[in-house]
Amino acid sequence: MTPTRLVKLQIDANQVALPMIKSTAGADGIDISKLKASTGLVTMDPGFANTGSCVSSISLVDGDKGILRYRGYDIEELAAHCSFVEVAYLLIRGNLPNQQELHTWSERLNKHSLIHEDMKSFFNRYPPNAHPMSILSAMVTSLASFYPHIMQGDPNFDTTAARLIAKVRTIAAFSYKKSQGDPVVYPRQDLPYCANFLNMMFDSPVKSYVIVPEVIAALNQLLILHADHEQNCSTSAVRLVASSGANLYASIAAGISALWGPLHGGANQAVIEMLTSIQTNGGDVHHVIERAKDKTDPFRLMGFGHAVYKSYDPRAKITKQLCDTLLPKLNVHDPLLEIALELEQAALRDDYFVERKLYPNVDFYSGILYRAMGIPTNMLTVMFAIGRLPGWIAHWKEATESKDQKIWRPRQIYIGPTRQKFVAIDKR
Ligand code: SDX
Repeated sequence: MTPTRLVKLQIDANQVALPMIKSTAGADGIDISKLKASTGLVTMDPGFANTGSCVSSISLVDGDKGILRYRGYDIEELAAHCSFVEVAYLLIRGNLPNQQELHTWSERLNKHSLIHEDMKSFFNRYPPNAHPMSILSAMVTSLASFYPHIMQGDPNFDTTAARLIAKVRTIAAFSYKKSQGDPVVYPRQDLPYCANFLNMMFDSPVKSYVIVPEVIAALNQLLILHADHEQNCSTSAVRLVASSGANLYASIAAGISALWGPLHGGANQAVIEMLTSIQTNGGDVHHVIERAKDKTDPFRLMGFGHAVYKSYDPRAKITKQLCDTLLPKLNVHDPLLEIALELEQAALRDDYFVERKLYPNVDFYSGILYRAMGIPTNMLTVMFAIGRLPGWIAHWKEATESKDQKIWRPRQIYIGPTRQKFVAIDKR
């Protein structure tokens, strides 16, 4: 982090000079790493909305302009012209692959798509209604038991990364099959990433899965849209755990757990549950709008608002357009789409949402697309995790390779009791 100039911070009669760090795009930063030593003070920034945790070259979000770029490429271009596997390579390796590099990367993913047969028996011990995110997090942590060599520093990061991207898809599909009481379907060596996943999910001994090119294209786009997003909650969890020296699988399992929350990746499931509830209650979107505005009601309009975007999330634009093309192609008439469109329209006409710059985010329409593919509601956040995995891996690599890497250990402003005199229990 090379400082470019100094800024002065006046604290009572003292002045502190703090270095500025220049970005190539987005916000520049004030380096306060010497603040405590030079003033005894710490900063306070709940949710770290104004605090940079690191310098990064992986993705950039411009919340005012509604821009998202991976390694400098606009998300619209990547979603329109790439496969998910290609974008995973871009995020992790820093450049788009050529034909040969993509072929080698795809082969490596296919080679590592099986999970150890002993891991298969884990699925039998979960209750049928186990949430797939709890299974995914546990299984990813367990991978470290089957590949212990990564604990001593990772001799071959590329293989470890490919193994994880390949196996997460298999674990997700196996957990779905187990929840249905159906036999698992193994990955095939002749199918590309997305087709392989859907085949593992929906092929069965009694009914072959028919691969529809438009569905495969839509799944590639959806996973690309979810692949990275700067220092969001789950990516920060991955980087925080990585800072202790934990292995890749343990760090990613932490990211999966953070993503599960309904304010983050769990929102896509919460959106479908919200739309279903509106449908069940007669389809009145205005009642939900009023609840979302009511400060005494903890209800939030799920899939709306964002910590960074104060404009329409570019990913929501693409998923909304995808609904217009994929559902008619599949002859799917999902009443939840009509409700979502009406809800968006009502919210974007309401001063509460307009004044606060609350727009649909990536989770508002994505669940409707996954439903059209046959993916159940409780698998939606798993789909988010499959998409976000290359971004998490890229951040883990960037963090662990950084010469500035330190263990994450934030400070606090203590407001508890001052020193107390101990009183023995018989005197209290
Ligand atoms: C993701 O960080 C990322 O990049 C995340 C993500 C990624 O790719 O990794 O983009 C993925 O997590 C998308 C967000 C999914 N979550 C939801 O859809 C849940 C619903 N959204 C809200 O909970 C909320 O918008 C958050 C959690 C997303 C953001 O919370 P913030 O940063 O606290 O929101 P804010 O500061 O912009 O809120 C400003 C005002 C507040 O009201 P006032 O105090 O000004 O009166 O807007 C209100 C908020 O209460 N508000 C909402 C609202 N979102 C914000 N009111 C009703 N419904 C909402 N959805």
